[in-house]
Amino acid sequence: MNAFRPDGAIGRATPRIEGAAKVTGRARYGADQPVAGALFAALATSAIARGRIVAIDQSGLARIAGIRMVLTHANVGKAVKPGRWFLNGGAMSTTAAPLAGPQVRYAGQIVAVVVADSFEAARDGAAALRFTYAEEAPAASFDSPGAREVKPRGLNPTTLDHGDVDAALAAAAHSLTLDYETPAQHHNPLELFQTTCAWRDGRLEVWESSQSVRSQKFGLAKQLGISPSRVEVHSPLAGGAFGSRGDLSQVTALVALAAKRLARPVKYVGSRRQGFTTRTFRAETRHKLRIACDAAGKLTGIEHLSWELVSRTEAFTLAGADTTSRLYAIPAIRIRAHAVEADRQTPGFMRAPPEVPFAFAMESALDELAHTAGIDPVALRLANDTNVDPVNGKPFVTRGLAACLRAGAKAIGWDRRSSTPGAVRGGGDYVGLGCASAFYAAQIGPADAEVTLMSDGRARVRVGTHEIGQGAATLVAQVAADRLGLAAAEVDVEVGDSELPPTILQGGSTGAASAGNAVLMAAEAIRARLVQAAVAGPGPLGGADPAEIRFRDGMLVAGNRAERVADLAAAVGGGKPIVQRSTHLPARVPPGLGPMLMRRGIPVMLGGHRMFRKRLGYSFGAQFVEVRVDAVTGEVRVSRMVGAFAAGRIINPVTARAQLTGGMIWGVSAALHEATEIDPRTARYVNADFGEYHIPVHADVPQVEAMLIDEDDPTLNPLGIKGVGELGIVGMNAAVANAVFNATGRRVRRLPIRPEDVI
Ligand code: MOS
Repeated sequence: MNAFRPDGAIGRATPRIEGAAKVTGRARYGADQPVAGALFAALATSAIARGRIVAIDQSGLARIAGIRMVLTHANVGKAVKPGRWFLNGGAMSTTAAPLAGPQVRYAGQIVAVVVADSFEAARDGAAALRFTYAEEAPAASFDSPGAREVKPRGLNPTTLDHGDVDAALAAAAHSLTLDYETPAQHHNPLELFQTTCAWRDGRLEVWESSQSVRSQKFGLAKQLGISPSRVEVHSPLAGGAFGSRGDLSQVTALVALAAKRLARPVKYVGSRRQGFTTRTFRAETRHKLRIACDAAGKLTGIEHLSWELVSRTEAFTLAGADTTSRLYAIPAIRIRAHAVEADRQTPGFMRAPPEVPFAFAMESALDELAHTAGIDPVALRLANDTNVDPVNGKPFVTRGLAACLRAGAKAIGWDRRSSTPGAVRGGGDYVGLGCASAFYAAQIGPADAEVTLMSDGRARVRVGTHEIGQGAATLVAQVAADRLGLAAAEVDVEVGDSELPPTILQGGSTGAASAGNAVLMAAEAIRARLVQAAVAGPGPLGGADPAEIRFRDGMLVAGNRAERVADLAAAVGGGKPIVQRSTHLPARVPPGLGPMLMRRGIPVMLGGHRMFRKRLGYSFGAQFVEVRVDAVTGEVRVSRMVGAFAAGRIINPVTARAQLTGGMIWGVSAALHEATEIDPRTARYVNADFGEYHIPVHADVPQVEAMLIDEDDPTLNPLGIKGVGELGIVGMNAAVANAVFNATGRRVRRLPIRPEDVI
């Protein structure tokens, strides 16, 4: 068991510390930053998806007062340099520099920036520009003329051959060939994409919500051709991110360039519609699965072929089958991931990037196989549970899948499910239950953190992690509070700034583990000094056994003896604050290189199959959904959903549950509501606004419950954190689709599920 034993604040339900500021409007986002004399920037984006700008008529600007500058490819060109794709510290969603030339590669590409005295004048100016294009017919998506297969690039292996798949499929008692499809989707954080850029004495300050302030610092410096020491990025909080603020935007360097040329601060707030094309998105995917089991439901083989839509400039591919098919005991596996390029912007990471589309295919296929074989879907998953990776035989450090499946099944009343589709009616509805497994790699990166204990007993944490709405600031306060015997409210927190002790990007559910353990190290070092002073000193704890001392309620306590933290802090610090800076280096991160890359904004991240040399680290869960399908209209409503999750140590059940239920709700959205519609003729997004890009409202999600299964894994990292940011959404698509099948007998293999699919 874990030697680590919390004293108080760790594990305690704690409201988020920035919550009140957010809901009362006091929270400041990028463009809210008060700067004197700011000008305003607005974007013009391309109406065509493929071709060249031939002319730009700016005569319409004459009628608008207060226009200061128009940036186009004619006056930007090489002034903004291309970033390196994928590696941060220069990472952009694309290697194509904005406004580098007249070429148009996708609809909604930035083609001009207008800067004016007011937001309105800039917006009107951008709308008044007239572009003449030499247009070519674009390829919109998979089947368009001009779309072509290219070599995939990405983080995950795109091919895998293990065992004799063809023999397994041929010999199996039950074997299915199944096609699945998921649509393009866009992360739409509530906070619009926005920034403030200001120069002073050759130094650039940027206020912009970010998941990676260090990569912004280094990436912007590279784009602008200046030293990173001249760029500061401030992102104290973000109004949501979900992957959309992880890489450099196409906008910020242009806003910074305008600010430099005009010698005035410039602010930018993009429109919702522009957010659809100036940041990344989740690309559409296709899957062909062949999957087989024996008469008892033991899986014997799987082939998972996948296709992902990519841009002309980067074959960004997620290749999630390497995860989804290795989580069960399958003796024969074949994986092939393909990339198909079209005239579209480069896709990127969106909450549970590979798992969401790939688990839809895998977890739907398991449901189909269970039905074919006449085996309960929960029983089928339990029968194929494994403690080792089927390919390399490495054990999972901890694996809570079976416990989650059992707990979730009990909570939703799975034993009352009919295995005959369409058998249960309730009022005018068909009622069904579905399930799926959830899983996510437990990931972590290096982090620096600074903890200060004041002589009055309050503490301060400074760490360059990112508060993107998930509760990072509260979590690091809790960790420091726990070790120093304080309440979380007695800890002041600074996060989200490129000048703070750095950590890696907030992505891949790494934030709590990365920053949390660095804060733990720093706080433990201070704690040790207080303990040392207490046992060596003349006070009530003099001569006490250090191992017996706990910290709680502002006191060091051993048996019935106690001493105030504040008194010891004053004594140890000699009346001055005690400052401790520490670096947490996860297992397998090289000591010299790892922190160096991390400090340059490069995402040094280990987890899942890349965690330990001999073991695997994953969190698990199980999703259970009840749907009601209107017998007349075919409308699908989720009436209940339960998720059970085993995700290591939970530092804050309030924010962890919010992450998990938020993920589940988004999963319902992806299954039933969301799709970015692409016009096949123009390759333009036709529903790029909240009027027509559907997301669930309150009435779409009547009941959602996330259960936390205790899991103590001392081998992962000192705090035993696995991360919960993405886990909750994984599996939800399939759980909903499987429930729809159970309710109606209609198997929907293309998302989102629409009334016409089931009517
Ligand atoms: Mo997450 S898609 O790694 O922000």
